[in-house]
Amino acid sequence: MSSAGAQAAAPVPPSLFPPVLTLWLLSCSCCHRVKAVCPRPPEVLFATLNVDKKVYEVGEEVEYTCRPGFMPNNGQRKYTCLPTGKWAFNTLLCLPKRCPPPPPLKNGKMNFEEFQYQSSVTFSSVSCAPPSLPEFSVLSYRRLHAGNVSHFLDTILFECVPPLALIGNETATCLANGTWSSIPECKVVTCPTPIGIENGFIEFVARRTYHYNESVSFGCQPGYVMEGSKHSRCENTGNWSTKPACRAPCKIPVKKAVVLYNGEKKTVQNDLKDGILHGETVSFFCKNKEKSCAYTVDVACVDGNFTLPACFKERGFFSSLVKKDYSEMKACEDEAEQ
Ligand SMILES: *[C@@H]1O[C@H](CO)[C@@H](O)[C@H](O)[C@H]1NC(C)=O
Ligand SMILES: *[C@@H]1O[C@H](CO)[C@@H](O)[C@H](O)[C@H]1NC(C)=O
Ligand SMILES: *[C@@H]1O[C@H](CO)[C@@H](O)[C@H](O)[C@H]1NC(C)=O
Ligand SMILES: *[C@@H]1O[C@H](CO)[C@@H](O)[C@H](O)[C@H]1NC(C)=O
Ligand SMILES: *[C@@H]1O[C@H](CO)[C@@H](O)[C@H](O)[C@H]1NC(C)=O
Ligand SMILES: *[C@@H]1O[C@H](CO)[C@@H](O)[C@H](O)[C@H]1NC(C)=O
Repeated sequence: MSSAGAQAAAPVPPSLFPPVLTLWLLSCSCCHRVKAVCPRPPEVLFATLNVDKKVYEVGEEVEYTCRPGFMPNNGQRKYTCLPTGKWAFNTLLCLPKRCPPPPPLKNGKMNFEEFQYQSSVTFSSVSCAPPSLPEFSVLSYRRLHAGNVSHFLDTILFECVPPLALIGNETATCLANGTWSSIPECKVVTCPTPIGIENGFIEFVARRTYHYNESVSFGCQPGYVMEGSKHSRCENTGNWSTKPACRAPCKIPVKKAVVLYNGEKKTVQNDLKDGILHGETVSFFCKNKEKSCAYTVDVACVDGNFTLPACFKERGFFSSLVKKDYSEMKACEDEAEQ
């Protein structure tokens, strides 16, 4: 005991002390900086998390619980923060609880409610019997006409409880023989984690399964112009709806020229050296030799494509010194002169 104490108390040679301490300090702050943490795990519709923080340590576990009235599918409820700083792929869905189907119809007359959690369907006295709803009873419907009686050619509109997707025809018509034209189904539909777009990115995408009707937003890299809807939706086919495209800007392929841009004279070499955006237009000045006048030709940037007008002549260094630029010539008076 006493000898150990004596060892610990032994003075460190002064020449060794500072580098060792520095190394020790360095390695320590280094470890701290490299150590991975996980962000908040992805949100799951109709679920709550047992621990809600901004940052989670590696190895930390979270557990999702479906809200009252919802129950988990066979996806995992517990997730661990991985050493990569990511959460394992999230497969949990919270689905509305199903209630037992109603008893069989008698004399085409019945009322029932609470057919599924938080929803009610009431009907009675019908010439078309109420539709017999599928076993996975998260389907409800509304009459499009006032009253609680369905007659020949009346239509009803079906709805599925979110996040389930309606597969089939959402409207049904009461047929002459007292049956409904069709009954749709409600299904769990998921879309894979969406894939990004060229020259753009997805905003806040989480590594998880997406439900039917969930949407993600896209952005474009600087200088690129978005074409199409900013959002893409998980469709009932399990595919994402059409994503937007990012259209490329154009360089103007001349060294020097005066052009019209947004109605103002600009020099390509100074004002437009970074080019123009997709969809923008510049006007070039061309010369009508016979009439000694200048006219303009519009050229648009189309996804990085930009074609100079055939009549445009880029001026050489000497010519630009001694001659007026076409942009300063008298404008041709009408189109016939061009
Ligand atoms: C329609 O519903 C109302 C109340 O919901 C009920 O009083 C009435 O009897 C129903 N009509 C028929 C024809 O069943
Ligand atoms: C859905 O059913 C209605 C009749 O209720 C019919 O008129 C319509 O064409 C159907 N729609 C599709 C997409 O099949
Ligand atoms: C009712 O009529 C439709 C179309 O006319 C037919 O497809 C269907 O099989 C009939 N249903 C019954 C129960 O007769
Ligand atoms: C899909 O989501 C939008 C809101 O983003 C909502 O307005 C719409 O009713 C939903 N459609 C279905 C069929 O659930
Ligand atoms: C997704 O779309 C492609 C092409 O449009 C289609 O071939 C495929 O069947 C769709 N996927 C699903 C799950 O319907
Ligand atoms: C660009 O122009 C070339 C040649 O005219 C054409 O083949 C190409 O499809 C164009 N690209 C776009 C995006 O318009």
